[in-house]
Amino acid sequence: MIVNLHRLGPPLVVICWMVAMLLNAQDLPEGDGKAITKRMCSSCHPLTTVTGKKASKDQWGIIVDRMVVLGAKGTDEEVEIVIDYLAANFGPKK
Ligand code: HEC
Repeated sequence: MIVNLHRLGPPLVVICWMVAMLLNAQDLPEGDGKAITKRMCSSCHPLTTVTGKKASKDQWGIIVDRMVVLGAKGTDEEVEIVIDYLAANFGPKK
């Protein structure tokens, strides 16, 4: 069977675009700090800035402290939860 690319073209583009949007809206892994991390860390840059990073707990502590200095809003307790969550899910590559 011959597939008519001209007829398939536009829907394919739409599908690719939708997949790209979904990947872009990539959700955080499930966990205790998910909602807080989403709220605290997605206002200035996309969450992909966060999820693209791999760091140890100490390093995440330094980064999150720096973000708080920059203006990230959260209580001390929330900051702790976020650091634990990030270290657990975006720890150094093994
Ligand atoms: C008030 C705005 C703001 C908020 C809120 C914020 N950030 Fe950032 N973030 C920045 C800016 C500005 C940069 C780039 C400058 C820099 O790296 O210091 C950045 C860069 C980063 C980077 C890349 C730099 C690096 O060292 O790898 C990471 C990772 C990051 N942020 C994580 C976070 C996390 C985690 C949170 C939530 C706790 C967060 N950000 C919340 C402003 C913010």
